[in-house]
Amino acid sequence: MTHPHSYLAQPADGIAGTITVPGDKSVSHRSLMLGAIAEGQTLVHGFLDGDDCLATRAALEALGVSIYKNALQPVRVNGVGLRGLRAPSRVLDLGNSGTGIRLLTGLLAGQAFDSELTGDASLRQRPMERIATPLRAMGGRIETTDGKPPLRVLGGSPLNGIEYELPVASAQVKSAILLAGLYADGRTTVHSPGPSRDHTERMLQSMGVQLETSERGRGHTVSLVGPATLRGREIGVPGDFSSAAFFIVAACLGAPDGLLIKNVGVNPTRTGLLTILREMGADIDLESERRLGAEPVADLFVRQSELRGIDVPPELVPLAIDEFPILFVAAAGARGTTRVSGAEELRTKETDRLAVMAQGLAAVGIAVEEQPGGLSVTGGRIRGGIVDSRGDHRIAMSFAIASLLARAPIEILNTAEVATSFPNFLEAATDVGLRIGPGAGNP
Ligand code: S3P
Repeated sequence: MTHPHSYLAQPADGIAGTITVPGDKSVSHRSLMLGAIAEGQTLVHGFLDGDDCLATRAALEALGVSIYKNALQPVRVNGVGLRGLRAPSRVLDLGNSGTGIRLLTGLLAGQAFDSELTGDASLRQRPMERIATPLRAMGGRIETTDGKPPLRVLGGSPLNGIEYELPVASAQVKSAILLAGLYADGRTTVHSPGPSRDHTERMLQSMGVQLETSERGRGHTVSLVGPATLRGREIGVPGDFSSAAFFIVAACLGAPDGLLIKNVGVNPTRTGLLTILREMGADIDLESERRLGAEPVADLFVRQSELRGIDVPPELVPLAIDEFPILFVAAAGARGTTRVSGAEELRTKETDRLAVMAQGLAAVGIAVEEQPGGLSVTGGRIRGGIVDSRGDHRIAMSFAIASLLARAPIEILNTAEVATSFPNFLEAATDVGLRIGPGAGNP
């Protein structure tokens, strides 16, 4: 089923109830890639059936990996072992997915064969030298197209371990280097200026790879010694915190009796939004904290509260990197001004999220100022209007949530990419009381 290409989001009275969100996108990608190069079978429970992860699945199948999936069963990946991938007979198309293309390039750098990777119009605009540079330093031969996809990975050159200082705290770059490090001779060490999501490290360890990590000040270091063998295993995928984020903010803005969001991944490298919202005055409880395999999960109970604008500490940016679109909506619903700085990375995501959010907020009557590395958003009345999400799933969902506070309907354009991360978003939103449906002109 294709996702509507526009939404009509009508003002709603409020939300309530219990909700679950789909599986974590980052963990789902990694479960397929690591399962593919492991020895033996990997079973994945709660896999995200979104377009991004399906593109990774298709790419791995083209590399000779058998992956079985039907509605009620866990996904089964038949691992081919570290040296078992084979040359693809076609270009690998990762669609909209930055995680897909960057992690897979790391995996392919150490292979004996050549491969070519590309993606959709958005992905073909995204920076790839950030992975090509360290992979070349390891001995990989990576060609970009003016720094962007399509990428060519020339196989057959042995990799050596390196020590690499990341210029920004990026989990995708860190993970690409670690995956190449599995194939490299000797130790591969990645230093980051701060923590970033650590799902790769947790999953590698759970599959038997020894990692060393250390912290100095805010800096974070991880290393492994290659070549390293992975053992297939069962993986439970938690609900995606980044998908839950839309409903966390929705409940802060409009759930007087509270909203329960069940089985959400609460890995501390992902939950910066909770810290920021609590500082703004949010009322959020973590209940039944537990573990699902290598990842912590909890049920989140969120009650409506008066939010106030704050200056968001820049060190929280990597820990909330995908949540800024919805945080800006929370800021629009808060008293006073919220200032975000040190977030220039947002300009390299599926869209330039600072620019597209600034335009969208202005289009619905919110006072916003754009700076090179952030936005200042002053809370106010959200009117109706037309917002173009430019095909950015998180921006489309953010403005859908904004309708909760709006005086008149918001029409949101270019929403089909919501299927990359949250295919059942409309049903989930409607179930809790939002009034969002396909816009005019959808089949
Ligand atoms: C991701 C890392 C983040 C994030 C992206 C998913 C991952 O990107 O924005 O949506 O799965 O590793 P960066 O590492 O480039 O910040």
